[in-house]
Amino acid sequence: MQRTNSPTWWRPRAALFTFCIAGALSVAAVAVRPADDAARSERAISQAAFQAVYKVLMSPRCMNCHPNGDIPLQGDDSHLHTMNVTRGVDGKGVYALKCSNCHQVANTPGLNMPPGNPTWHLPPADMPMVFEGRSPRELALQLKDPNQNGHKTLQQLLDHVSKDALVLWGWKPGDGRTLPPLAHAEFVKQFKTWVSTGAVAPNE
Ligand code: HEC
Ligand code: HEC
Repeated sequence: MQRTNSPTWWRPRAALFTFCIAGALSVAAVAVRPADDAARSERAISQAAFQAVYKVLMSPRCMNCHPNGDIPLQGDDSHLHTMNVTRGVDGKGVYALKCSNCHQVANTPGLNMPPGNPTWHLPPADMPMVFEGRSPRELALQLKDPNQNGHKTLQQLLDHVSKDALVLWGWKPGDGRTLPPLAHAEFVKQFKTWVSTGAVAPNE
Protein backbone atom coordinates (compact mmCIF):
# COMPACT_ATOMS: atom_id res chain seq x y z
CA MET A 1 0.00 0.00 0.00
CA GLN A 2 1.33 3.41 -0.96
CA ARG A 3 1.75 5.74 1.94
CA THR A 4 0.76 8.86 0.00
CA ASN A 5 -2.56 7.34 -0.96
CA SER A 6 -3.46 6.65 2.59
CA PRO A 7 -6.43 8.80 3.63
CA THR A 8 -5.34 8.66 7.23
CA TRP A 9 -1.78 10.01 7.43
CA TRP A 10 -2.55 13.70 6.95
CA ARG A 11 -5.69 13.92 9.00
CA PRO A 12 -4.02 14.65 12.34
CA ARG A 13 -1.80 17.21 10.61
CA ALA A 14 -4.75 18.91 8.99
CA ALA A 15 -6.51 18.96 12.30
CA LEU A 16 -3.45 20.45 13.98
CA PHE A 17 -3.08 22.99 11.18
CA THR A 18 -6.74 24.04 11.49
CA PHE A 19 -6.35 24.24 15.23
CA CYS A 20 -3.29 26.51 14.92
CA ILE A 21 -4.95 28.82 12.38
CA ALA A 22 -8.05 29.10 14.54
CA GLY A 23 -5.87 29.82 17.54
CA ALA A 24 -3.88 32.48 15.70
CA LEU A 25 -7.08 34.12 14.47
CA SER A 26 -8.59 34.30 17.90
CA VAL A 27 -5.36 35.72 19.37
CA ALA A 28 -5.42 38.35 16.61
CA ALA A 29 -9.07 39.11 17.29
CA VAL A 30 -8.38 39.65 20.98
CA ALA A 31 -5.40 41.89 20.14
CA VAL A 32 -7.42 44.00 17.69
CA ARG A 33 -10.54 44.39 19.80
CA PRO A 34 -9.11 46.77 22.47
CA ALA A 35 -7.77 49.04 19.71
CA ASP A 36 -11.22 49.05 18.10
CA ASP A 37 -12.86 49.75 21.41
CA ALA A 38 -10.41 52.56 22.09
CA ALA A 39 -11.15 54.16 18.71
CA ARG A 40 -14.87 53.80 19.26
CA SER A 41 -14.75 55.35 22.72
CA GLU A 42 -12.50 58.18 21.49
CA ARG A 43 -15.15 58.93 18.88
CA ALA A 44 -17.82 58.93 21.57
CA ILE A 45 -15.73 61.22 23.78
CA SER A 46 -15.21 63.62 20.87
CA GLN A 47 -18.91 63.69 20.00
CA ALA A 48 -19.92 64.21 23.63
CA ALA A 49 -17.43 67.07 23.98
CA PHE A 50 -18.94 68.75 20.92
CA GLN A 51 -22.44 68.39 22.36
CA ALA A 52 -21.24 70.38 25.39
CA VAL A 53 -19.59 72.99 23.14
CA TYR A 54 -22.77 73.17 21.05
CA LYS A 55 -24.90 74.19 24.05
CA VAL A 56 -22.69 77.26 24.47
CA LEU A 57 -22.56 78.11 20.76
CA MET A 58 -26.36 78.02 20.60
CA SER A 59 -26.84 80.11 23.73
CA PRO A 60 -28.14 83.63 23.05
CA ARG A 61 -24.84 85.30 23.99
CA CYS A 62 -23.18 83.58 21.03
CA MET A 63 -26.01 82.88 18.62
CA ASN A 64 -27.24 86.50 18.63
CA CYS A 65 -24.15 87.46 16.60
CA HIS A 66 -24.24 84.29 14.50
CA PRO A 67 -27.77 84.63 13.05
CA ASN A 68 -29.22 82.89 10.03
CA GLY A 69 -29.78 86.06 8.05
CA ASP A 70 -28.42 89.59 7.93
CA ILE A 71 -30.06 90.93 11.09
CA PRO A 72 -28.39 90.41 14.48
CA LEU A 73 -30.54 88.97 17.27
CA GLN A 74 -31.23 90.42 20.70
CA GLY A 75 -32.08 89.22 24.15
CA ASP A 76 -32.45 85.80 25.72
CA ASP A 77 -35.31 85.07 23.30
CA SER A 78 -33.05 85.96 20.32
CA HIS A 79 -35.58 88.25 18.63
CA LEU A 80 -34.52 90.22 15.54
CA HIS A 81 -32.49 93.35 16.33
CA THR A 82 -34.78 96.38 16.33
CA MET A 83 -34.17 99.68 14.49
CA ASN A 84 -33.48 98.12 11.08
CA VAL A 85 -29.94 97.18 11.99
CA THR A 86 -28.34 94.92 9.35
CA ARG A 87 -25.01 93.20 8.80
CA GLY A 88 -23.52 95.21 5.95
CA VAL A 89 -20.72 93.79 3.78
CA ASP A 90 -18.11 93.87 6.56
CA GLY A 91 -20.48 92.93 9.41
CA LYS A 92 -20.22 96.43 10.91
CA GLY A 93 -23.59 97.75 9.80
CA VAL A 94 -24.67 100.23 7.12
CA TYR A 95 -24.86 104.04 6.82
CA ALA A 96 -26.12 105.67 10.01
CA LEU A 97 -26.66 102.26 11.61
CA LYS A 98 -23.03 101.30 12.11
CA CYS A 99 -22.75 99.03 15.14
CA SER A 100 -20.23 101.32 16.81
CA ASN A 101 -22.71 104.24 16.75
CA CYS A 102 -24.60 102.58 19.56
CA HIS A 103 -22.29 99.83 20.81
CA GLN A 104 -19.49 101.50 22.75
CA VAL A 105 -16.13 100.02 23.74
CA ALA A 106 -17.67 98.62 26.94
CA ASN A 107 -21.17 97.62 28.03
CA THR A 108 -23.42 100.63 28.66
CA PRO A 109 -24.78 100.10 32.20
CA GLY A 110 -28.51 99.50 32.71
CA LEU A 111 -31.20 97.20 31.38
CA ASN A 112 -31.75 97.12 27.61
CA MET A 113 -28.70 99.28 27.00
CA PRO A 114 -26.29 98.35 24.20
CA PRO A 115 -23.61 95.84 25.13
CA GLY A 116 -20.12 97.00 24.19
CA ASN A 117 -16.75 95.94 22.92
CA PRO A 118 -14.15 97.75 20.74
CA THR A 119 -14.77 95.33 17.87
CA TRP A 120 -18.53 94.78 18.17
CA HIS A 121 -19.73 93.45 14.77
CA LEU A 122 -21.10 90.42 12.92
CA PRO A 123 -19.06 88.08 10.71
CA PRO A 124 -18.82 89.46 7.15
CA ALA A 125 -21.48 88.86 4.50
CA ASP A 126 -19.24 86.58 2.42
CA MET A 127 -18.58 84.31 5.42
CA PRO A 128 -21.51 84.71 7.82
CA MET A 129 -20.60 81.80 10.20
CA VAL A 130 -24.24 80.99 10.92
CA PHE A 131 -24.98 79.09 14.16
CA GLU A 132 -28.74 79.69 14.32
CA GLY A 133 -30.74 76.65 13.15
CA ARG A 134 -27.71 74.37 12.69
CA SER A 135 -27.89 70.84 14.14
CA PRO A 136 -24.89 69.65 16.19
CA ARG A 137 -23.60 67.68 13.20
CA GLU A 138 -24.07 70.57 10.76
CA LEU A 139 -22.36 73.05 13.06
CA ALA A 140 -19.42 70.74 13.80
CA LEU A 141 -18.81 70.16 10.07
CA GLN A 142 -19.14 73.89 9.35
CA LEU A 143 -16.71 74.86 12.13
CA LYS A 144 -14.12 72.45 10.74
CA ASP A 145 -14.41 73.79 7.20
CA PRO A 146 -11.77 76.50 6.55
CA ASN A 147 -13.94 77.88 3.75
CA GLN A 148 -16.71 78.59 6.25
CA ASN A 149 -14.82 79.31 9.48
CA GLY A 150 -12.65 82.28 8.47
CA HIS A 151 -9.83 80.06 7.12
CA LYS A 152 -8.93 78.82 10.59
CA THR A 153 -7.17 75.59 11.55
CA LEU A 154 -8.61 73.65 14.49
CA GLN A 155 -5.80 75.08 16.64
CA GLN A 156 -6.72 78.63 15.57
CA LEU A 157 -10.38 77.90 16.37
CA LEU A 158 -9.32 76.75 19.83
CA ASP A 159 -7.31 79.97 20.25
CA HIS A 160 -10.34 81.95 19.09
CA VAL A 161 -12.72 80.44 21.64
CA SER A 162 -10.03 80.75 24.35
CA LYS A 163 -9.06 84.38 23.82
CA ASP A 164 -11.21 86.33 21.36
CA ALA A 165 -12.66 89.46 22.95
CA LEU A 166 -16.17 88.91 21.56
CA VAL A 167 -16.20 85.33 22.86
CA LEU A 168 -15.01 86.51 26.29
CA TRP A 169 -17.73 89.19 26.25
CA GLY A 170 -20.26 86.32 26.44
CA TRP A 171 -19.28 85.81 30.07
CA LYS A 172 -19.44 89.56 30.90
CA PRO A 173 -22.52 90.50 28.91
CA GLY A 174 -23.79 93.46 30.92
CA ASP A 175 -26.90 94.00 32.99
CA GLY A 176 -29.91 91.74 32.55
CA ARG A 177 -28.31 89.14 30.25
CA THR A 178 -27.87 85.48 31.22
CA LEU A 179 -24.52 83.69 30.90
CA PRO A 180 -23.82 80.74 28.58
CA PRO A 181 -24.60 77.33 30.17
CA LEU A 182 -20.95 76.41 30.90
CA ALA A 183 -18.21 78.45 32.58
CA HIS A 184 -15.68 79.75 30.04
CA ALA A 185 -12.88 77.46 31.35
CA GLU A 186 -15.15 74.42 31.06
CA PHE A 187 -16.20 75.44 27.54
CA VAL A 188 -12.53 75.74 26.47
CA LYS A 189 -11.77 72.40 28.10
CA GLN A 190 -14.56 70.68 26.14
CA PHE A 191 -13.49 72.39 22.92
CA LYS A 192 -9.91 71.19 23.49
CA THR A 193 -11.14 67.64 24.12
CA TRP A 194 -13.16 67.77 20.91
CA VAL A 195 -10.11 68.90 18.89
CA SER A 196 -7.65 66.47 20.51
CA THR A 197 -9.92 63.47 19.89
CA GLY A 198 -10.17 64.15 16.17
CA ALA A 199 -12.98 66.76 16.12
CA VAL A 200 -15.59 64.11 15.30
CA ALA A 201 -18.98 65.52 14.28
CA PRO A 202 -22.01 64.13 16.16
CA ASN A 203 -24.16 61.68 14.15
CA GLU A 204 -27.03 64.13 13.73
C1 HEC B 1 -20.66 90.93 18.79
C2 HEC B 1 -20.83 89.78 17.99
C3 HEC B 1 -20.27 88.44 18.42
C4 HEC B 1 -20.54 87.76 19.58
C5 HEC B 1 -21.31 88.24 20.77
C6 HEC B 1 -19.93 86.44 19.42
N1 HEC B 1 -19.31 86.35 18.21
FE1 HEC B 1 -18.33 84.73 17.46
N2 HEC B 1 -17.73 85.81 15.87
C7 HEC B 1 -18.06 87.13 15.63
C8 HEC B 1 -17.31 87.61 14.48
C9 HEC B 1 -17.35 88.99 13.91
C10 HEC B 1 -16.54 86.53 14.04
C11 HEC B 1 -15.56 86.50 12.87
C12 HEC B 1 -14.30 87.19 13.24
C13 HEC B 1 -13.12 86.35 13.21
O1 HEC B 1 -13.09 85.33 12.51
O2 HEC B 1 -12.15 86.70 13.92
C14 HEC B 1 -16.82 85.41 14.93
C15 HEC B 1 -16.27 84.16 14.81
C16 HEC B 1 -16.47 83.12 15.68
C17 HEC B 1 -15.92 81.82 15.55
C18 HEC B 1 -15.01 81.40 14.43
C19 HEC B 1 -15.40 80.40 13.49
C20 HEC B 1 -16.78 80.21 13.03
O3 HEC B 1 -16.95 79.41 12.12
O4 HEC B 1 -17.74 80.80 13.53
C21 HEC B 1 -16.32 81.07 16.62
C22 HEC B 1 -16.02 79.62 16.93
C23 HEC B 1 -17.12 81.95 17.44
N3 HEC B 1 -17.21 83.18 16.83
C24 HEC B 1 -17.67 81.57 18.64
C25 HEC B 1 -18.39 82.45 19.46
C26 HEC B 1 -18.82 82.09 20.80
C27 HEC B 1 -18.54 80.78 21.49
C28 HEC B 1 -19.48 83.16 21.29
C29 HEC B 1 -20.19 83.31 22.61
C30 HEC B 1 -19.47 83.04 23.82
C31 HEC B 1 -19.44 84.20 20.24
N4 HEC B 1 -18.78 83.71 19.16
C32 HEC B 1 -20.00 85.45 20.38
C33 HEC B 1 -18.96 87.89 16.33
C34 HEC B 1 -19.47 87.55 17.57
C1 HEC C 1 -29.30 102.42 16.89
C2 HEC C 1 -28.50 101.77 17.88
C3 HEC C 1 -27.91 100.40 17.55
C4 HEC C 1 -27.20 100.04 16.43
C5 HEC C 1 -26.85 100.88 15.23
C6 HEC C 1 -26.84 98.68 16.64
N1 HEC C 1 -27.31 98.21 17.83
FE1 HEC C 1 -27.15 96.34 18.57
N2 HEC C 1 -28.18 96.85 20.23
C7 HEC C 1 -28.66 98.12 20.50
C8 HEC C 1 -29.31 98.12 21.80
C9 HEC C 1 -29.97 99.31 22.49
C10 HEC C 1 -29.20 96.80 22.29
C11 HEC C 1 -29.73 96.26 23.61
C12 HEC C 1 -31.13 95.76 23.43
C13 HEC C 1 -31.66 95.07 24.65
O1 HEC C 1 -30.88 94.54 25.44
O2 HEC C 1 -32.88 95.03 24.78
C14 HEC C 1 -28.49 96.04 21.27
C15 HEC C 1 -28.26 94.70 21.37
C16 HEC C 1 -27.53 93.97 20.43
C17 HEC C 1 -27.27 92.56 20.54
C18 HEC C 1 -27.78 91.63 21.61
C19 HEC C 1 -26.78 91.09 22.52
C20 HEC C 1 -27.33 89.95 23.34
O3 HEC C 1 -26.62 88.98 23.55
O4 HEC C 1 -28.49 90.02 23.75
C21 HEC C 1 -26.52 92.20 19.44
C22 HEC C 1 -26.00 90.86 19.10
C23 HEC C 1 -26.31 93.41 18.68
N3 HEC C 1 -26.94 94.47 19.29
C24 HEC C 1 -25.58 93.45 17.53
C25 HEC C 1 -25.46 94.60 16.75
C26 HEC C 1 -24.65 94.64 15.56
C27 HEC C 1 -23.83 93.51 15.03
C28 HEC C 1 -24.80 95.90 15.03
C29 HEC C 1 -24.24 96.41 13.72
C30 HEC C 1 -24.47 95.56 12.56
C31 HEC C 1 -25.69 96.62 15.91
N4 HEC C 1 -26.07 95.81 16.95
C32 HEC C 1 -26.10 97.93 15.73
C33 HEC C 1 -28.55 99.20 19.69
C34 HEC C 1 -27.96 99.25 18.43
